[in-house]
This record gives sequence, C-alpha cells and structure tokens, in this order.
Amino acid sequence: MPEWLKDTIFYEIYPQSFKDTNGDGIGDLNGIIEKLDYVKSLGANALWINPCFDSPFKDAGYDVRDYKKVAPRYGTNEDLIRLFETAHAKGIRVLLDLVPGHTSDTHEWFIQSSKYEENEYSGRYVWTTNAFEGIAGHPYISGMTERYGAYMLNFFASQPALNYGWLNRTEKWMSAVDSPEARATIEALKDIMRFWLDAGCDGFRVDMADSLVKNDDEHKSATAAIWREIRDMLDKDYPEAALVSEWSNPEQAINGGGFHMDFYLDHWHNGYNTLLRDYEANEEDNSFFKAKGKGDIMRFLDDYLPKYKATKDYGYISMFTCNHDTPRPARTLSVQELKLAYAFILTMPGVPFIYYGDETGMKFLDVRSKEGGYHRTGSRTPMQWDDSKNHGFSDCEPKDLYLPVDQSENAPTVSAQENDPESLLNTVRKLTALRHQYEDLQAASSFKPLYAVKETMPFVYERGEMVCAVNPSEGGIKIRLKEFRGKEPVFVIGRAVVENEVLIIGPQSFAVFA
Ligand code: NOJ
Repeated sequence: MPEWLKDTIFYEIYPQSFKDTNGDGIGDLNGIIEKLDYVKSLGANALWINPCFDSPFKDAGYDVRDYKKVAPRYGTNEDLIRLFETAHAKGIRVLLDLVPGHTSDTHEWFIQSSKYEENEYSGRYVWTTNAFEGIAGHPYISGMTERYGAYMLNFFASQPALNYGWLNRTEKWMSAVDSPEARATIEALKDIMRFWLDAGCDGFRVDMADSLVKNDDEHKSATAAIWREIRDMLDKDYPEAALVSEWSNPEQAINGGGFHMDFYLDHWHNGYNTLLRDYEANEEDNSFFKAKGKGDIMRFLDDYLPKYKATKDYGYISMFTCNHDTPRPARTLSVQELKLAYAFILTMPGVPFIYYGDETGMKFLDVRSKEGGYHRTGSRTPMQWDDSKNHGFSDCEPKDLYLPVDQSENAPTVSAQENDPESLLNTVRKLTALRHQYEDLQAASSFKPLYAVKETMPFVYERGEMVCAVNPSEGGIKIRLKEFRGKEPVFVIGRAVVENEVLIIGPQSFAVFA
C-alpha cells in the first residue's frame, strides 16, 4: 500500500475543459502544466486526468484507439511526460485513466479482430460464431464485419468488449478465463500499464473495473482475480503506484481485487447519493446537506458503515464532490450548503477527490450532448478562471469552444473568489490545509459516528482523537456528549462552541474539535 495515499487529496481534471493554451477551443496538457500551481494552491497533491489518449471521441476518450499515444488535440507523449515531471517537482502525483474493458471500434486490435481470416487478434474481443445468436442478454452488434459472428458491446455502440473470458460458460464461443486469448488480453493490459508507469505516471483510475470477466459470479471473483494479479505486479515492480477503481463495491474491489481505493459512486438512493443529490426531477430535494431538505444521515450510514468496516484494513473508500458522469453539486446546493458538504467529504476517512470547478461552485449547465456525454455534458463545461474572454479558459472565438462557457451574470470564477477569505474557493483551501495538518483527519485514521439519529441534526463523528460536527439545518442545536469534554474548536464554518460537554452549534455550521 503506497504510504502517500494517507495524506492525499485528488483533483480530477477533464482535460477537454481545463485550460486551452493553443487557442483551438479545447483544453490541453500544456494547460494543465500551466495551472499546476493553482492545483497546489488548492491543497490538492494528486491529479486524476480523464483519458487523454488517441481516440475518435465517441465517448469523450473512453473509446481508446491507441493506448500508448496521447491524443493530438491534447499534445504529445512528450508533453505528458513533461506534465509528470513538472507535477512531481511540485509534489503532485498523476493518475491516468485506464480503460480495460473495451476499446474504440477503430482500435487496430479490433480492426484485425473483425477480419475474416483468423489472426493474432481474433480472440481479443468477445465474438459469437453466428450473427443471429445474441450474447447471453448483453448488447451486441452484428452484420457490420467480414467476420461472421456478432461482437459484444461493453458500453456504447462504438465500444466492443475486450475478451477476458467467461466464468460460467454456456456456449462454445465463450472463452475460458485461462484460455490463451483471455490471457493475451491480460498481458496486453499489463503492457499498457507498464508503458505509462515507466514513463512516470503514478497509477491509474480504472474505468468500469468490474466489467472484465463475463458471467462472473456474484462476488465478481474472476474479475477480482485479474486485478489481484495486477496488484501483485505493482507490489513487485511499482510499489508506489496507486489504483482506484470505478466499481463502487469496495469489498469486491479492495478486499477481492486488491485496489487501493474504490469510488463511492452516485447511484440512485445509495448512501453517497443521499448526501448531495437526493432528488429526482420535480421531486423534493432531501439531500442531507440541503438546509430545507429532510436530511437523514442514517440513510448514508446504513449503507456506508458496513462497507467501511469491511474494507478499512485493506484500502480506502473514495468520496468525491462530483465527477464527469455526475451532476455538479451546485445544481441544487447553495454556497453555504456546498461548504458543509465539502467539509464533510474532506474530513471523512478514505481518499477524497475534488472535481475541477467544484471548488468555486461551478454550475451544472443545460447544454446539448457532446461526445457521448448526454446529460453528463452539463458537468463538463470549461473551467471558469476569470472575467476575461471565455472566462480565461481559451482565447478562441466563443463559437469554437469545445463546450460553451457559463454565460450567466453570477458565473463563479477563480479570480473573483481569490481575495475573499469566506469564498467557497478559500473555504476549500482551508479545509484541505486542515486535513494536511491533522493526521487524525486523513485517510487511515479511525472513524466512528458519535451522534447519528434518524432525521435529527446534528451529525457528530470521531476521527482519531478529534471530533467533527455538522449541522446543515436552519436551526441552532445544543447537545451533550462526553467526547466533547476538554475539546476546543480548531476549525469552524458558521458558529460552534463547546461549554463543558455541551456542543452549541449554529444553523448551517460545521466544526472540528481537538
Ligand atoms: C465510465 C466513465 O466514467 C464514463 O464517462 C464512460 O462513458 C463509461 N465508463 C464507459 O467507458
């Protein structure tokens, strides 16, 4: 387990939308390099960069055409290596995005695989022998290739599924997990990982990590076994490299697969979802951090605690403010509500991730779909740096922007918030500094709810020797807890004091006591 993860705060960068340095309307690697001091000023000490590899961009780069080549629109492999070096010199690590479950249908492997003549890549993807047969209920495409069979899709129509074999084999064309073709796919994956680790990256965020072996068992144990093998490779040859999975089942991903971290994704009505996004169109917003919502921390804890307890000795659950697939939290939360939500995320165990722009409260925009983004596109718009043209993202003509910038009068920007000590941006900075200052607030220190009652505020939790309290509601509260004895606030948003053993916490407030 890389020690550095204990005190790490990630910043996710969607490279399309962060900073354009060559005026073509789309972000680039040089833009990320230019903004590394900003990342550092935020208190983030690691990056996750969404896929930046050669691609026809039918799914924003999650449709890789060449895993070993940076997409020309972002720069070159040399630029990426310079990004690693510059980031490292500033104490920032860099994770790339690894897409192991599928490629683009324009990847050379797939072009070869779809040929009539048998070749080295015939078994690289999941194919049936017959075009009319279907693939065990999975989406597939047939009638498009000179090869006779149908091929399985892993996500969109442009993303054929790579072949890691089937655990439960019911048809002749289903490869075994230890077949030569499934083994060849695993070796190809390791080769890609070695290529970028040797070039200086610090690990990977792994896309749809649970999607490798088909007809896997309920624990996904065959898929987990592949990741365990990869973890062994890392432990042996790259012990400092880190892996975070898009799996959202930490027991399977961490205990089973050996991932260092697993994302707690926004899935409708899971614990994470009830915190910041507990709404559906035209329905009440009952998010815990909504002042007027009927927030209920037990809906979070009932889901989270068993996951935390089962995995805390093996790895970390990663909570995020948002990601490129999820509506921005500012869609429904006010600045004060965001402050409390971020304070919570940044004082919880595990390794937290901040999504670019959330630190200023960037909005979820209503824009047309771009590169397979659909509703997700609204969370992918250009970073708003300042009040200059295109909010300082790019000096291109607005019509040439990859996605439109927020045109509203009150569009939040970095520059407008820089000098206001109470701004969301500076609150995030204070929170990240606090987490770096106290080991008790970092990834590995213990976590225990001290006061958590259904539909009742506040929520009080212990981190190591410290106590955190959050009251998202509009009323002030007093509660007595012996754990407050002798404690003083070291950080407060809103109002909070302790008198003897009594916490007096104001409306919409958060505090940490030591
Ligand atoms: C999850 C990624 O986060 C998402 O953006 C992508 O569309 C799918 N996986 C397919 O790779």
